[in-house]
Amino acid sequence: MNANQPLICLKQISFSYPEAPPVINQLDLDFYRGDRIGLMAPNGSGKTTLFHLIMGLLKPISGQMEIFGKPVKEEKDFFEVRRRIGLLFQDADDQLFSPTVLEDVAFGPLNLGKSKTEAIEISRKTLEFLGLAGFENRITFKLSGGEKKLVSLATVLAMEPEILLLDEPINGLDRKTSGKLIDVLKNLDLSYMIISHDIDFLDATTHAIYTMANGKILVDQQMQVHQHVHAHPHGTYPHAHET
Ligand SMILES: Nc1ncnc2c1ncn2[C@@H]1O[C@H](COP(=O)(O)OP(=O)(O)OP(=O)(O)O)[C@@H](O)[C@H]1O
Ligand SMILES: [Mg+2]
Repeated sequence: MNANQPLICLKQISFSYPEAPPVINQLDLDFYRGDRIGLMAPNGSGKTTLFHLIMGLLKPISGQMEIFGKPVKEEKDFFEVRRRIGLLFQDADDQLFSPTVLEDVAFGPLNLGKSKTEAIEISRKTLEFLGLAGFENRITFKLSGGEKKLVSLATVLAMEPEILLLDEPINGLDRKTSGKLIDVLKNLDLSYMIISHDIDFLDATTHAIYTMANGKILVDQQMQVHQHVHAHPHGTYPHAHET
């Protein structure tokens, strides 16, 4: 693929859950190498669904997807996508399944063909990088919500993805820990898209904030989220001002 081509290109993608109206409706998205995009939109607007479509966990009803320059349609097309794109699930319990933290983090690298020694080495380094040294033998299901979120992120980073899709990464994290995550993200040389309802977090970690409405992504300047110092009936959600 050439350097000017988007890494993720969605064209006219539509999706609906069974017996429900479309959640994603002729959505277009171009995501380029180096992009750091925030996605902020109301509950139920389809943000998580969009990430699951990109990973091939859900299949669109219509439209075209090209990822890393190749059309992706069938299950086998998504093997490479899942190797090169790391998805942090909104709910850490969807991510973690091994008895101990080290086994969970090492699972990805082992699956990618690393030796046991290499996988353990990568896992320890990743845990340390996230301030989780000493968590190796902790029982995963006994971790606190915030700890689970960080261990989930460790499982994603240990696979050394090229793109991160983070679905509400600071949900449940205290201020100090989310501050640490801001530093971690700034120091990673990765392209990413982050779903969050926290404007300050997105401001600190991304270059642009998109929103979603009526099943589409809105990238219009007018509709980009901006910070306010005044009270506003629309709360923290994106909206247009009359000029
Ligand atoms: N498995 C499912 N079956 C049926 N409907 C679903 C399913 N998952 C999600 N939905 C519906 O699809 C819509 C979009 O859900 P989605 O989880 O993508 O929203 P979201 O923007 O991520 O919301 P939130 O900010 O609450 O996480 C919602 O109305 C939701 O109820
Ligand atoms: Mg969601």
